[in-house]
Amino acid sequence: MGGSDDLFSERGRSRRERLRELLRGDRPVGLEIGFGHGHFLVGLAEAAPALTVVGVEYQGTWVARVAKRIAQRGLDNAYVLKGDARVLLTLDVPPARLDHVFILFPDPWWKARHHRRRRMFTPELLDVLARALRPGGTLLLRTDVPAYLASSSRFVAAHPAFDSAESADDSGEPWVGVTTRREKKCANEGVPTDQRLWRRRASIEVSPT
Ligand SMILES: C[S@@+](CC[C@H](N)C(=O)[O-])C[C@H]1O[C@@H](n2cnc3c(N)ncnc32)[C@H](O)[C@@H]1O
Repeated sequence: MGGSDDLFSERGRSRRERLRELLRGDRPVGLEIGFGHGHFLVGLAEAAPALTVVGVEYQGTWVARVAKRIAQRGLDNAYVLKGDARVLLTLDVPPARLDHVFILFPDPWWKARHHRRRRMFTPELLDVLARALRPGGTLLLRTDVPAYLASSSRFVAAHPAFDSAESADDSGEPWVGVTTRREKKCANEGVPTDQRLWRRRASIEVSPT
């Protein structure tokens, strides 16, 4: 697993600078955390050319492979960065800059001792996302682990910056029908999956950096 410290090395600093560059300007931005094989990221970039799609993933092998696929397809609105999203989003994303955040099939890390260090979607990350998402911006979670969905839904529902979940399928957003590798595997094996879409409320102020 790539560690957070990597982001403070010389190469890590140049990746962080790259993210800050990508976020300059006012193009709408969708950010996928933990894109793995990158099927969703590439599919979304193709489906929504006006959206800048940024992926953050801490497995360098996936980052390199997906970067190659993006180049092969000639996509000029998709970018991938290696790093721990929990750190990158805190350090390098200006408040209210993201339009969409995608957390798709995160590892459940069942053992309690793993939770704290490795579970990606936690109340702490939600605080970071509340600051990074613009008012009206969306947060999409998909999973095949009902307990993950239930516990995540509880802490999002308790967060003052997010509205209650709405139907993702009726959202009319370009990612409806765009799937991840894990999602395709679940569909092939008959494993049920589920999703929740939450929206960042406008009424809650984001705190400055
Ligand atoms: C189970 S895989 C799912 C991959 C893909 N989203 C899919 O549905 O096929 C979860 C991915 O999230 C990445 N990941 C987990 N925590 C992360 C974090 N804090 N920052 C960036 N990537 C993370 C892992 O390296 C892994 O590739």
